[in-house]
Amino acid sequence: MAYENIIVETRGPVGLIRLNRPQALNALNSALLGELNDALGVFDLDGRIGAIVITGSEKAFAAGADIKEMQSLDFVDAYMKDFIGDWEKVPRIRKPIIAAVAGYALGGGCELAMMCDFIIAAKTAKFGQPEITLGVMPGMGGTQRLARFIGKAKAMDLCLTGRMMDADEAERCGLVARVVPSQELIEEAINAAAKIASFSQPVVMMTKETVNRAYETTLTEGLRFERRLFHSMFALEDQKEGMAAFSDKRTPSFKNR
Ligand code: CAA
Repeated sequence: MAYENIIVETRGPVGLIRLNRPQALNALNSALLGELNDALGVFDLDGRIGAIVITGSEKAFAAGADIKEMQSLDFVDAYMKDFIGDWEKVPRIRKPIIAAVAGYALGGGCELAMMCDFIIAAKTAKFGQPEITLGVMPGMGGTQRLARFIGKAKAMDLCLTGRMMDADEAERCGLVARVVPSQELIEEAINAAAKIASFSQPVVMMTKETVNRAYETTLTEGLRFERRLFHSMFALEDQKEGMAAFSDKRTPSFKNR
C-alpha cells in the first residue's frame, strides 16, 4: 500500500511511523487511519520488527480527529458507519508501541497516544481533550482511558474544561513515562524500542498483554492470568537462555522461541 498521510521506515528491529499531514497538524482523518492500521498490521506480522514507534512532527503529534471531515456528519451516518470505530484496531496490535509526542496531542491525538503502550514526551508536548469546545466529547477512548490512567479528578478537569496540560504535568500524573528535550525525542524512543526488541519476542508480547489485562479485569483474575503466562514461559528456550546467561555472567542471546 502506498502511503500519503504517514511515513514508514525501519531502524533495525524498530518500525517507525510518522504521522504526516503537516498542513492540518496531523489531524486524524479516515485516510490516515487506514494507512496507520495497514502499517501497524504489517509491522505486527514482520518477525524482524520487535517494537514500533509512532510519532508526529515537532509542532504536533496530532491535533485531534479531523474536524473538517466530521463537521457535516449526522447521527445516522456516524452510527451506521461506526465512525472512528476502526481506531480500536490500534490497541489490538500485539507488539509494543511507543508514542513519541512533541507539540500538540489533542483530542484524538491524545487518545491515539494513550492507545500506545507508553508515551515518551518532548518538553514541548501538550496534552488535552478539547472536544467540549466543539460541542462534543472525546470519542476515541479519552473519557475511559484518561480516567483509568490519570484518575477521575484530572480526567474530569481535562474533558470538562478542555484545557491543555504540559509534559511535566503529564509526567507527574502518570500519563507520560518519560520527558526528554525535544531534540532527543526520536532517539530516546527508538532506543527504548530497540531495547524492547532485544528481548524475547514472545515474552515481550505476553508482558504487554498481561499489563493491559490489568485495565480489563479484576485483580484476582489478572493475577491468575499473569501466573498462567508466567508458568508458560518455562516452555521457552529463551527462558533457559536468559537464566543460563545470568549464571554464566554473559549477555543472553534470545532466539524468540
Ligand atoms: N482538524 C482539522 N484541521 C485541523 C485540526 C483538526 N483537529 N487542528 C488543526 N487543523 C488545521 C487548521 O484548520 C489549520 O488549517 P488551515 O491552515 O487550512 O486553516 C492548520 O491545521 C493549522 O492550525 P492552526 O492555524 O489552528 O494552528 P495554531 O498553531 O494557531 O493552533 C491548535 C494550533 C491550538 C492545535 C489549533 O489548531 C486547534 O485548536 N486545533 C483543534 C484541536 C481540537 O479541537 N482537537 C479535537 C478534535 S475533535 C476529536 O478529536 C474528537 C475525538 O475524540 C474523536
